[in-house]
Amino acid sequence: MNQTGTAQRVYSRIAGTGSYLPENVVTNDDLAKIVDTSDEWIAARTGIRQRHVAAEGETTSDLAYQASLRALEAAGVKPEELDLIVLGTTTPDLIFPSSACLLQHRLGANGCGAFDVNAACSGFLYGLSVADKFIRTGDAKTVLVVGSETLTRMVDWEDRTTCVLFGDGAGAVVLKADTDTGILSTHMHADGGKKELLWNPVGVSVGFKEDEKNAGVRISMAGSEVFKHAVRALDSVVDETLAANNLDKSDLDWLIPHQANLRIIEATAKRLEMPMERVIVTVDRHGNTSSGSVPLALDEAVRSGKVERGQLVLLEAFGGGFTWGSALLRY
Ligand code: ACO
Repeated sequence: MNQTGTAQRVYSRIAGTGSYLPENVVTNDDLAKIVDTSDEWIAARTGIRQRHVAAEGETTSDLAYQASLRALEAAGVKPEELDLIVLGTTTPDLIFPSSACLLQHRLGANGCGAFDVNAACSGFLYGLSVADKFIRTGDAKTVLVVGSETLTRMVDWEDRTTCVLFGDGAGAVVLKADTDTGILSTHMHADGGKKELLWNPVGVSVGFKEDEKNAGVRISMAGSEVFKHAVRALDSVVDETLAANNLDKSDLDWLIPHQANLRIIEATAKRLEMPMERVIVTVDRHGNTSSGSVPLALDEAVRSGKVERGQLVLLEAFGGGFTWGSALLRY
């Protein structure tokens, strides 16, 4: 209770950010040696120039671990202080245990709740939304939220329509309960009716078919259809987010979007009438790292000194499912 006798609102404040990219960099020119493509085509259609690819044996939880160590250090939080770990991923190390459990043990945070969230490229924002609810209800005070992916493991390197798009990487944030400032609202949406437009149709319950084994473990995407749905959904969710907070687009300091395609990012920036100088772009260097992309961009924005305490930041993402979502925060 505050001095007026009303319950004080609790926010989830980002206390620290971290990220990690695998060492191996694959350029567009490297890809042009294996499929019929060119640096010009990829850069013009997507904005991507290069992507990082995990080394053999390097897993999603390995990337998550490095990003988490950096976020914990930045926040000044010890692993044993964590009440919860939420990890957004669509490329877990194993079917089970979850990558969140593998990460938890490696961090030395045994005992706290830990689970994965699979919402494709929206995984980090879905995870952030869940973590925010735990903090706001008082059930947790310190939460680690991670987005980590090794998407290149399920890319068909002979399919030029998809292999040029994806990369590996991880980002993490430590959220702490705070009475002053933090996440103002989160918004999650899904439409399972469009699943065939962007999916990997292999799974446990549908059964593994031996003859489809190699052809099946691959991302399949109707690119231009996904593009149209992504722009529409993101326009709608940014409008919804501003309206929910009685804010105008001119109030925003930064847009930190999912990094799938520079043209999609520019469309959202245009909708918000934001100059590209106020938009964090990493897609040129990272490609699409799915759940990793928003926290990777956020960490870069924080560590470069672009995003400062007190500024209003809008995060958004769109991915397979379809899923899409946003978070508005006072950093
Ligand atoms: N190099 C050269 N040519 C290519 C390549 C390539 N790498 N890939 C496709 N082409 C060709 C196509 O074959 C086609 O040729 P055609 O006209 O002779 O048939 C032509 O280029 C145009 O293809 P489009 O698919 O219409 O190209 P488009 O401008 O739509 O760009 C892209 C494709 C980049 C995939 C775009 O549609 C896109 O970014 N879509 C959205 C992706 C996205 O946001 N995904 C969501 C998140 S991912 C997740 O959740 C896992």
